[in-house]
Amino acid sequence: MSVAANPVPESLLEERFEATIARKDRIEPRDWMPEAYRRTLVRQVAQHAHSEIIGMQPEGAWIGRAPSLRRKAILLAKVQDEAGHGLYLYSAAETLGVSRDELTELLISGRQKYSSIFNYPTLSYADVGTIGWLVDGAAICNQVPLCRTSFGPYGRAMIRICKEESFHQRQGYELLLTMMRGTAEQRAMVQESVDRFWWPSLMMFGPPDDASPNTARSMAWGVKTHTNDELRQRFVDMTVPQADALGVTLPDPDLAWNEERGSYDFGQPDWDELWAVVAGDGPCNAQRVAHRTRAWSEGAWVREAALAYAARESAGHEADHGADHGADHGEDAA
Ligand SMILES: [Fe+2]
Ligand SMILES: [Fe+2]
Repeated sequence: MSVAANPVPESLLEERFEATIARKDRIEPRDWMPEAYRRTLVRQVAQHAHSEIIGMQPEGAWIGRAPSLRRKAILLAKVQDEAGHGLYLYSAAETLGVSRDELTELLISGRQKYSSIFNYPTLSYADVGTIGWLVDGAAICNQVPLCRTSFGPYGRAMIRICKEESFHQRQGYELLLTMMRGTAEQRAMVQESVDRFWWPSLMMFGPPDDASPNTARSMAWGVKTHTNDELRQRFVDMTVPQADALGVTLPDPDLAWNEERGSYDFGQPDWDELWAVVAGDGPCNAQRVAHRTRAWSEGAWVREAALAYAARESAGHEADHGADHGADHGEDAA
């Protein structure tokens, strides 16, 4: 169909696309792109958007139980940022020709995924700090390289998201630091929380490279710029000194500085656990999707009202524009 409708042959379009990628320029929504590239991006950007929105749940559960007004204000701002991240990313996905309604249906019917980390429960207020420190910290490692990803709207969304993620990471670390300077009970609470979140945080980078069949193609397209294992290593190297400064122990007996590599050696997470959580058998999968489904159906009237209002406004605006046409011209000339 596209060949008949477009005088430029597909081979030439593909050549231009490859040249843009090779120059490390951006592919924009108006540009021709291979169908598989578009599909890969829809999957990745949608999964990312869903993670931001589902990720509001584990921490949102603690807003009403924050220990002080200051902590409540910080947590509210953070959870609200995540809603914004979801919004930027759904908007980026829309430029690829999929609607937010479609993507939400794919999420709540289980056909699209979100980050496995949000299927773990938050059991204490220390988890708010640990999520900021480790989960947002891992997100930063994953997302900073994505600022240079080949698809323009995705890369530009990531620039703003990364700035906010760095605030999230710091507020988490500062919360844990405050607790570590508190009572023995508070220190124990932090350690228990870190023990639970360490391995799932390492799983956030995805399976090992030899079990990640899509990585090579995503890298050739400039969608990904580093492999899962590279990013996981970067995260471990960044986090170990922070754990030392905090005074917590990371629950990995194999963790050790490797002088030769100039990096930390570390143990492997339980990959069977990751596959089980991805398949829907994590501790909170059912709860997270049920909550999102309920919010989606209870919010239907708001979406309908907003669309009706927007349609009426734009109809009114068109009528106004017709009547004011002469006046507009006068203003332009002035
Ligand atoms: Fe986020
Ligand atoms: Fe965040």
